[in-house]
Amino acid sequence: MSSTEIPGSKFVITTPIYYVNDVPHVGHAYATLNADAVARWHRLLGDDVFFLTGTDEHGLKIQRAAEDGGLEPLEHATRTSERFASTWKMLNISNDDFIRTTEPRHHQAVQALLQKAYDNGYIYADTYEGDYCVPCEAYYVEDDLVDGNCPIHKRPVEHMVEDNYFFKLSAFTDQLTAWLEGSDAEGGDTDGSGSGRNSIRPTGYRNEALGIVRQGLDDVSITRTSISWGVPVPWDTDHVFYVWYDALINYATALGFGADEERFDEWWPAVHHILGKDILRFHGVYWPAMLMAAGIEPLPELHVHGFLLLGGEKMSKTGGLTAITPEELVGDFGVDGFRYAMLRNHSFGPDSDFSYEGIVEAFNTDLANTYGNLVSRVATVVGKKCGGVGPAPAADASLSAAAATAYAEAATAWDSVQPSAALDATWRLLRETNEYLAEMEPWKMDPGPEVDAVMGNALEVIRIASIMASPAIPEAVEVAWKRIGLDGLVSEQRLPAAAGWGGYPGGLDVAIGDPMFPRFKPSA
Ligand code: MSP
Repeated sequence: MSSTEIPGSKFVITTPIYYVNDVPHVGHAYATLNADAVARWHRLLGDDVFFLTGTDEHGLKIQRAAEDGGLEPLEHATRTSERFASTWKMLNISNDDFIRTTEPRHHQAVQALLQKAYDNGYIYADTYEGDYCVPCEAYYVEDDLVDGNCPIHKRPVEHMVEDNYFFKLSAFTDQLTAWLEGSDAEGGDTDGSGSGRNSIRPTGYRNEALGIVRQGLDDVSITRTSISWGVPVPWDTDHVFYVWYDALINYATALGFGADEERFDEWWPAVHHILGKDILRFHGVYWPAMLMAAGIEPLPELHVHGFLLLGGEKMSKTGGLTAITPEELVGDFGVDGFRYAMLRNHSFGPDSDFSYEGIVEAFNTDLANTYGNLVSRVATVVGKKCGGVGPAPAADASLSAAAATAYAEAATAWDSVQPSAALDATWRLLRETNEYLAEMEPWKMDPGPEVDAVMGNALEVIRIASIMASPAIPEAVEVAWKRIGLDGLVSEQRLPAAAGWGGYPGGLDVAIGDPMFPRFKPSA
């Protein structure tokens, strides 16, 4: 059993922190929405959730972006960081903290953690010569290059020679192998720690990280003297830490590392990182090794997703994505429409094609025709056949088994960070309920116990499915909840109890409102 299944347990979920040389785009929104939905699910379970996001503000890339715009690095970083924060607000992202790596709390934590690694003998001085890709903020060895270019950005690397401090990554080969191998896809306790944790999911990415370790690890350069825009090395202030070694530590900073050890110890065992496959090497190899070097147990679980592709290429600012912004998509589909389509259309793990038509389809089929239509249809029939008062469900309804199955499937999917699969199970229940109504034809029945039972069952599904859908469409479900006469908020419900059949009490006023998701017709 994973730690996340113990009700009331702590649950930390993080997004990568975004570089401030780019403005928030659909690819970033995808990562953040997945983290948000998982955070919301865990709040429903009654977990004590801490959801962290933020911005990565140091490094050469940012320094140059600021220079290009004629700004000081901090001014540039502040402007872009605010754009990320406001985009997340617009998308109804429920983060509990927003970290900026330029904050004093972060500098302090980075210095404390890396000083420990230095004191433990895992950092030493040497000269480095290598090929550096500025957009990646990473060195490459000759073999990695494609026609002399960065394999990811396909642009020339820069040759650099520097006096650097090195991190003895090679010293952690065995420990990293054990950490990566000591977990399995089923969450079994194969590492003997009693924690039953998975290091990296989906398993393919765990194997990829293992492959990197097995290929042989070289020590890595972790400081720079050629730039000043970074966190100063505490034992040699001519150097700043190379941006990745400062950035990864944000996850520890926000939990109080170096400032409030009690708080850190309380939250640390519950950490889950959401990240894209391009930054797997940093999170799945370097980060656990840094923690080991500082004497901290590498407890985080990694949940790795693929890329959203546009025309077969990773969506990014340079990849033509500026044409479609999260703001525009929200303008067309609403916040919940955009959220739903992003979560539903792209299963977590593999690469996935993004398309505008795909959003239209998810919106019209699932939100307008299935969920929205069920709510309107039920309210209309309750108005005509039950005097506008929602009846209680029948105890032995066939739909109760469908609801229980859907809930069990969705709960498993949310627990393994598969929002798309969880929503699939939820919408199957909604479709079954629409089919049930089509079969029963309650609109042809005379008022009485028979129609009351059918409508009570349908209302009960709306109640349960609204809770299950709430991590994806948090505003729409509150509207449906009120329409069927329920008190309080969906977000206040606690699972699994609230998903049990029979929670709709009956005797509540049911309102017929405007369609919740009017069908979207693309303008010609
Ligand atoms: N700053 C680093 C992360 C440091 S975390 C300690 C970084 N930033 S980033 O802004 O370039 O990317 C952040 C995340 O956005 C990555 O996980 C990346 O995979 C994700 N995505 C960027 N474009 C994406 C797509 N087109 N599709 C899916 N995710 C994408 O890397």
